[in-house]
Amino acid sequence: METKRSSFTGKIGFVLAAAGSAVGLGNIWRFPYLAAKYGGGVFLLVYILLAITFGFSLMVAEIAIGRKTGKSAIGAFASLDKRYSFVGWLAAAVPMIILPYYSVIGGWVLKYFTGFVTGSASTMAADGYFGNYISTVSEPLLWFSIFLGATALVVLFGVEKGIEKVSKVMMPLLVALTLFIAIYTIVTMDGAWDGVKYYLMPDFSHFSIMTVVAAMGQLFYSMSLAMGIMITFGSYMKKDISIEKSVRQIEIFDTGIAFLAGLMIIPAVFAFSGGDQSALGQGPGLMFVTLPKIFEAMPGGTVIGALFFFMVILAALTSSISLMETIVSIFMDKAKVSRRVGCLIVLGLSILIGVPASIGYSAWSGVTILGMQFLDFFDFISNSIIMPIVAFATCIFVTFVTKPKGIIEEVELDQKFKQKKLFSVVIRFVAPVCILAILASSILSAFGIVKI
Ligand code: PFF
Repeated sequence: METKRSSFTGKIGFVLAAAGSAVGLGNIWRFPYLAAKYGGGVFLLVYILLAITFGFSLMVAEIAIGRKTGKSAIGAFASLDKRYSFVGWLAAAVPMIILPYYSVIGGWVLKYFTGFVTGSASTMAADGYFGNYISTVSEPLLWFSIFLGATALVVLFGVEKGIEKVSKVMMPLLVALTLFIAIYTIVTMDGAWDGVKYYLMPDFSHFSIMTVVAAMGQLFYSMSLAMGIMITFGSYMKKDISIEKSVRQIEIFDTGIAFLAGLMIIPAVFAFSGGDQSALGQGPGLMFVTLPKIFEAMPGGTVIGALFFFMVILAALTSSISLMETIVSIFMDKAKVSRRVGCLIVLGLSILIGVPASIGYSAWSGVTILGMQFLDFFDFISNSIIMPIVAFATCIFVTFVTKPKGIIEEVELDQKFKQKKLFSVVIRFVAPVCILAILASSILSAFGIVKI
């Protein structure tokens, strides 16, 4: 059955919907811990450089491919060249890997929110609290199920619109609060200024190839690239809306929020630990360890903390909903199942992958894959392996199938493509070479063949 594709109404509608998917835990939880771990200022610099060249070009290409074909990833690649349909399938696998562990982190945020609301804020600020919490089995699993269940309910009843409306109102508040917390920390806490310096002044002695690997993986993750999402968004986009401008706006928005989140967390890490390497490099737990300490030190911190975690939940939900919606619609299209069955299948698969991700920190903490805990492994396999492969294949696809001209024509349906030179150089030469190098180094380091 052919269903008519709906399209976004106003210009701002497209940008807001894409930004709603882009802004999520990636910005608030993932970006700060990577920036802290991989060199502070150098990481920020590499990230911004990659965003304005590589992220920009890839997002333009994906949206244009979607708008040109009017199809989502699997159909879009296949309709232009059958040999590339595997790229669509590979892209489609990414949200399926991300959604389960995204829900594990979403569950952690829920736990912290309820903790603040029920008056356990100071318990949560205590040293070692987070580590002890995730090393228990049942509670993290319970919150994971609630987060995943809520996502599934929204997708099942198709009430995304309601959630999106609420989160559109909350988003500016989230930005304002993040800024406030950052300024509060920097102004009132001893040692925070060293963190500002670490975060804003690139020190090239902290640079390693891992800085680039991590920054590129984060770029894909944060901007929802190389997973078919932007192709689907493009397929809903009207022809008279400027792709180039929209991409710039999404990028500024997404990077801006990530930047602020880093500014909120990294100086605080310095204030509490003096910039000790093990505190900076602690990984996924960073936000959960640092934020409660800031709130504890702040007058009215319990209320502000509760409000903050609530808004993070909303941002995470809009992202998890778009992740799940993408997978469910693939099952509906390709396996010809109903929305309800599609939701059930995705829910089942998410539990199958999400449970090991959650108990990988507790009951299964002894089990590692390539030296990584389950959650880290799922994150690694999607961000550092599959997404670079999809991104590389997209570049090759644009170079040989649509040709850069095909994309440029689509972009110019509305107005002149100002950065078309940059676009065609990056997509044909710079991006494929960089991606291959990065892919090779992350595979070699995962297998312990080289140490980077
Ligand atoms: N970009 C989201 C984030 O930064 O949290 C993660 C994400 C959401 C990826 C939705 C993909 C997606 F479809």
